[in-house]
Amino acid sequence: ALVVRHRMKSSGKWTRTMAILREFEGKCATPISKLRQVADAMTVEMHAGLASEGGSKLKMIISYVDNLPTGDEAGLFYALDLGGTNFRVLRVQLGGKDTRVVKQEFEEVSIPPHLMIGTSDALFDFIAAALAKFVAEEGEGFHPAPGRQRELGFTFSFPVRQQSIASGSLIKWTKGFSIEDTVGQDVVGELTKAMERIGLDMRVAALVNDTIGTLAGGKYYNQDVIAAVILGTGTNAAYVERAQAIPKWHGLLPKSGEMVINMEWGNFRSSHLPLTEYDQALDVESLNPGEQIFEKIISGMYLGDIVRRVLCKMAEEAAFFGDTVPPKLKIPFILRTPDMSAMHHDTSPDLRVVGSKLKDILEIPNTSLKMRKVVVDLCDIVALRGARLSAAGIFGILKKLGRDTVREGEKQRSVIALDGGLYEHYTKFSTCMESTLKELLGAEVTANILIEHSNDGSGIGAALLAASHSQYLEES
Ligand code: GLC
Repeated sequence: ALVVRHRMKSSGKWTRTMAILREFEGKCATPISKLRQVADAMTVEMHAGLASEGGSKLKMIISYVDNLPTGDEAGLFYALDLGGTNFRVLRVQLGGKDTRVVKQEFEEVSIPPHLMIGTSDALFDFIAAALAKFVAEEGEGFHPAPGRQRELGFTFSFPVRQQSIASGSLIKWTKGFSIEDTVGQDVVGELTKAMERIGLDMRVAALVNDTIGTLAGGKYYNQDVIAAVILGTGTNAAYVERAQAIPKWHGLLPKSGEMVINMEWGNFRSSHLPLTEYDQALDVESLNPGEQIFEKIISGMYLGDIVRRVLCKMAEEAAFFGDTVPPKLKIPFILRTPDMSAMHHDTSPDLRVVGSKLKDILEIPNTSLKMRKVVVDLCDIVALRGARLSAAGIFGILKKLGRDTVREGEKQRSVIALDGGLYEHYTKFSTCMESTLKELLGAEVTANILIEHSNDGSGIGAALLAASHSQYLEES
């Protein structure tokens, strides 16, 4: 319903609008001192999460990956990547040391929204069907070993309690997914049953988070990769930990002495985080209230909606868009982060892109340049807060690993593999994240740290891990 308000004098509108904007900006502030506190809190939680199961908001999940790809992996492998709004299927022919990736093909399928909140069987049947169709199209250049079952690396980008490299139960859904009957189930079992139902003969050789896949894919090309960060629909990080630094690990000490940890940092929270009333409202109204707080102020699923919420407040309390509140502005998630990014990057003198987005998406016609500038400022505040906090998170990992200082005589390179749509497409976000990390590290340390875009590393990484955990490995 339209809320008809008293006409407000134009000067009153601007005073109130700017007051809302400035107050929001103040609450979102992330001075370096605050980022250091966030990073310190992150390392404290990392220790706590490694010490005991349930010891921290950070789950610090043991991935059962204790060996990262070497380049020797060989054969035909499939990968399936489920985690955002799309899912991908991929096949890759690995040639070993010198030839590496001989041939690679992938397909992207978008997930019908009703399947994200339906039943487990419906979701996994849909995935298995798409996979079966893709496998049926396997053509020249791919060489399945005769008489052998095809093998798959399953990238499943949600928190999973791993039982082994190829099994694990879903702890909870995150991002836009909410399917009750999957929680607690072994997701490999769910997928395998769906593949059986459709008559697809394939074995899941590795179950990995997208951060683990990205770490493996990154390491395949660059042996200096020590951590991976996803900035996409959601956000998360994984890194290589010394097995002896994981008190909650009671298994055998791996030969490598190392274990990859999926932090699930999206669930991080701390009193040092700059949270506003808008973030609180977003959280309360979300599919997973109280959870994934770090993710909700950083990642692509949410940034656009934070902007929408502030605009809504301006409309309601300052009549920013006139005497009535534009009804579209009330619809959650109507303003997507890619649209926010397009407005934020608008360089035209009259902010034409901002004008047309407001008109097309929110049905707000005839905005003045002054109004459009407010919208851009708002995008700036929301994006930069997220970018700076993600830099603080990375800084926290480097601190935990003792790679935040230059030790004497040491020229140890640390590469962090980055992936995700937010990082890839939101330039102002990624630029700010990288410059903030430099600022936190200082020039001398920065010289040893490299951020590398690992383009779809998670798919290839899962295939590589399937290869190194193949059931046929002993025979060949
Ligand atoms: C969410 C998921 C996590 C994933 C991240 C990025 O935070 O819980 O598992 O890695 O999104 O896709």
